[in-house]
Amino acid sequence: MNIKKIESEYIMQTYKRNDLVIKKSKDQFLWDENGKRYLDFFSGISVCNVGHCNKLVVDAVKNQINNFIHISNLYYGSPQIILAKKLVSRTFEKGKVFFSNSGAEANECAIKLARKWGFLNSSKICNKYEIVCFNNSFHGRTLATISATGQEKFHKYLMPLQEKFVFAKFNDINSVKKLINDKTVAVMIEPIQGEGGIFPSDKMFLKALRKLCDDKNILLIFDEIQCGVGRTGKFYAFENYDVKPDIVTLAKSLANGLPLGATIANKKCAYAFEYGDHGSTFGGNPVSCAASLEVLKIVNSEFLNNSLKVAKYLYVRLEELKEKFSIIKCIRGIGLMVGVDLMINGRDIVTCCMNNGLIINCTSDTVLRLLPPLIIKESDVDFAIKILEESLEYQTKNYTKKYI
Ligand SMILES: Cc1ncc(COP(=O)(O)O)c(C=O)c1O
Repeated sequence: MNIKKIESEYIMQTYKRNDLVIKKSKDQFLWDENGKRYLDFFSGISVCNVGHCNKLVVDAVKNQINNFIHISNLYYGSPQIILAKKLVSRTFEKGKVFFSNSGAEANECAIKLARKWGFLNSSKICNKYEIVCFNNSFHGRTLATISATGQEKFHKYLMPLQEKFVFAKFNDINSVKKLINDKTVAVMIEPIQGEGGIFPSDKMFLKALRKLCDDKNILLIFDEIQCGVGRTGKFYAFENYDVKPDIVTLAKSLANGLPLGATIANKKCAYAFEYGDHGSTFGGNPVSCAASLEVLKIVNSEFLNNSLKVAKYLYVRLEELKEKFSIIKCIRGIGLMVGVDLMINGRDIVTCCMNNGLIINCTSDTVLRLLPPLIIKESDVDFAIKILEESLEYQTKNYTKKYI
């Protein structure tokens, strides 16, 4: 069976897939159809944070499947409700969560909740509904979340977009101040921009943003869909900043590969949703929630400290590469969310690494994005650096031949 040919014939061609058919995965490894093993430094875009087919997650899923797979949110089912208690208690005092299936949906829900809260808190003469977002951001692919995304390439062919999203400069508090007016209801930001090229926000900037939102009675929404669930060495990226949002969104790694999104709101705004305001057939699916309960157990402080130790080693080894290769402009990131910014397009380096047994990704054309499972060891870093070094050497030679 020619999988690639069937894919091109029957699936809408929206993805530029790598030339790799995956047959099996376990922990930090993938295997292709010929049995070749790959070290995964991408985790399916920061999804399998506790490792592929993690035994505890697999057992929980099997167990739940034997009980019930789906019941509808019109009845009570324990995995979702227990997860809600654990997740909310980890986040806010007296907060609440809405469960969905994906990152885009989690953000869509945050936008709707903010607008509803804005409606309830508007004065008679002025409605609050405008949301300040950021240049270079990414919040998803639904029409509202694409409208909140600050990259024009995602807006192509979709006009008119959803109205009243305005865009400030990332890490520039004055540019946010200029956009705030009586109609502003929320500011929405990724504490670390992921798709945009791994740009962490500055601590002073996030603190100033929190203060600005408090002063103006505006909600602060953090999109932690890529940077949350331990990716940065803390459960939430915002814990690295000592700044708390009013709403935080999670998805991707929340159920380690099963679809689950969560919009968690504090007591200031969670009450704004009432019966009928929002809903989802599959949101908070029992199997996904059972998997997520295991993820929350696994991602404890010891687990996170281990991931930080390996991350530290990874940065040291990457800096060595930077010394050696002038095509590396800089290395950015927090914890195991790392960007290697290049002077050249990184696409061929990604392919070269893949051919040599290492899975990485390139975003924003020039940024190699490393998002390994948080269980990797120093020996995995050594292997990854060796492959990266060989690939960079090969590409540097090609680049020199072509342009110099
Ligand atoms: C920060 C951020 N927000 C939202 C999304 C959308 O998530 P999903 O693809 O699950 O809809 C992504 C996906 O990459 C993301 O990185």
